[in-house]
Amino acid sequence: MKALVLENIHPAAVEVLEGRGYQVDLRPGSLSEAELIESLAGVELLGIRSNTTVNAQVIEAAEHLVAIGCFCIGTNQVDLGAAADRGIGVFNAPYSNTRSVVELVIGEIIALARRLPEKTQKMHDGVWDKSARGSHEVRGRTLGIVGYGNIGTQLSNVAEALGMSVVFYDKADRPAHGNARRAKSLAELLGVADVVSLHVDGRPGNAGFFGAEEFAAMKPRALFINASRGMVVDYESLRDHLLSGHIAGAAVDVFPVEPKAQGDEFSSVLRGLDNVILTPHVGGSTQEAQEEIGWFVAEKLARFALEGSTALSVNLPPVLPPALTPRHRLGFLHHNVPGVLAELNAVFAAAGDNVVDQTLATRDHLGYVITDVAAPLSTEAVEQLTRSEHCLWVRTW
Ligand SMILES: NC(=O)c1ccc[n+]([C@@H]2O[C@H](COP(=O)([O-])OP(=O)(O)OC[C@H]3O[C@@H](n4cnc5c(N)ncnc54)[C@H](O)[C@@H]3O)[C@@H](O)[C@H]2O)c1
Repeated sequence: MKALVLENIHPAAVEVLEGRGYQVDLRPGSLSEAELIESLAGVELLGIRSNTTVNAQVIEAAEHLVAIGCFCIGTNQVDLGAAADRGIGVFNAPYSNTRSVVELVIGEIIALARRLPEKTQKMHDGVWDKSARGSHEVRGRTLGIVGYGNIGTQLSNVAEALGMSVVFYDKADRPAHGNARRAKSLAELLGVADVVSLHVDGRPGNAGFFGAEEFAAMKPRALFINASRGMVVDYESLRDHLLSGHIAGAAVDVFPVEPKAQGDEFSSVLRGLDNVILTPHVGGSTQEAQEEIGWFVAEKLARFALEGSTALSVNLPPVLPPALTPRHRLGFLHHNVPGVLAELNAVFAAAGDNVVDQTLATRDHLGYVITDVAAPLSTEAVEQLTRSEHCLWVRTW
């Protein structure tokens, strides 16, 4: 069993895959389309980050490919539809850097409240400016979290541990953590928050959703943080409100246009402003997050290839089967049309094989059934299923 792992993925991934019996071909960089097609000969599992494009041509040519692991958050670099049509599972790590983002934001809240960007700059310039003017504790202050998902909720818990009051606003119904209070509207949150931190997702409707009106509605001298998506904020407007003094400081990690390569020039209207922390989209970039991503995605790949689990796949119907041993298992990926389950179970019945456990999930035009049976199914029965006009693949474990 072969795995090709590109782009300097954390050794934790290799450890997991080798531990599950894979021979791992580990390469530091990404590959071009032609190199990738050549290197994928005989490979079942492919590991990439954001610099490798897996398009429909690559997927078509990769005859033995079973699954692709994106060892990052985004999956835009993979043609998910083409992969699904061939029954290739694609997995990513949506939560592995949540804590890293939260810790950066907490550090920024404290740094901005103490006006550290200015103080450290002055010290480097040789100016001793010992003063409490404009410096505050965060204890007792109100943090307004906009977008109360994975990151927003964890930030809520850590901020409360620091003695902050938390108010949150989310378009979806999200349960409050700890003593956090739900705001009925964004306007209500902006009217009470001393710090506003954005943690919304990148859905198209969020482009430019935080602009002049929202900054004007914030409390005078409040702080603003965006570590979510660059396109959600009108930074020209943030600049105006920082210059007027209405906003007392800001920390920004994400930008509408970000430099492509290491060392490229970064342009932004926020450069050179007082009490503004600018970071190069590193909210989720820590060694701990990389290790967690390595372990998490490699586990998902191995569990799909060796046990049939599609849990957290981004393109196949999600089925989380029970532990495998001592059962016999058959996975059947098929077109989502009426009658397929009956066809499958008729094969088990004809073989006199008792079904111990069966789970079906569907997603768009695909259906996936995992069936655990009392005895292994005969080769003829498996072949009969493979010949079904609705079958993408049948695998047994
Ligand atoms: N800076 C970084 O390095 C970094 C790292 C990881 C994630 N992120 C980004 O952080 C953001 C949050 O990530 P997550 O994992 O918590 O996402 P998530 O999907 O778990 O949560 C997003 C929440 O925002 C809510 N939401 C969306 N639009 C909204 C709106 N207009 N008003 C109010 N609520 C809204 C959703 O209902 C959801 O609860 C994402 O945009 C993600 O891309 C950045």
